[in-house]
Amino acid sequence: MRRAIFPGSFDPLTNGHLDIIRRSSPLFDEIVIAVLNNPEKHPLFSVEERCDLIRGILPGAEIDGCSLVVDSFSGLTADFARQRGAAAIIRGIRAIGDYEYELRMALMNRRLQPEMETVFLTAAEEYSFVSSTLMKQVFELGGRVDGLVPDAIIEKMRKKISK
Ligand code: PNS
Repeated sequence: MRRAIFPGSFDPLTNGHLDIIRRSSPLFDEIVIAVLNNPEKHPLFSVEERCDLIRGILPGAEIDGCSLVVDSFSGLTADFARQRGAAAIIRGIRAIGDYEYELRMALMNRRLQPEMETVFLTAAEEYSFVSSTLMKQVFELGGRVDGLVPDAIIEKMRKKISK
């Protein structure tokens, strides 16, 4: 059983994240989409809301034989990955600007869990500029994010922001 975790804030999940999940699914038997519980960062959506949104968006409980599980975690990603028996941590790289930060995290996670590999996948070009932070900022200022964030999540963002 090859299990990986795909950790992130997912505040909210974007089509770039979905692209990485689709691309990584042929490589693993199970992917745990691990949503960081980070209330100190004042996320737009609570960790429970983010998990529910992701569960609602995923095309099913599996893609091409790879099971998709959504869970939240607090503390170190490396500890959560070990607790779940994962062999790898998946991270998406959009552009060269991501690399330095991602490399530092991968090396630190390797120091914490020497057996754990970080697998970098490159996102599709059309999502190379998409981040949750940019999507929230543009949306809050009245810009359109269609095609970049799943429609159902845009609807929830609309409701959340109008409150
Ligand atoms: O979606 P993000 O915000 O880019 O995800 C970053 C995340 C959650 C992967 C990173 O902040 C993380 O791993 N946080 C948990 C705490 C931790 O393990 N820190 C040390 C990383 S080497």
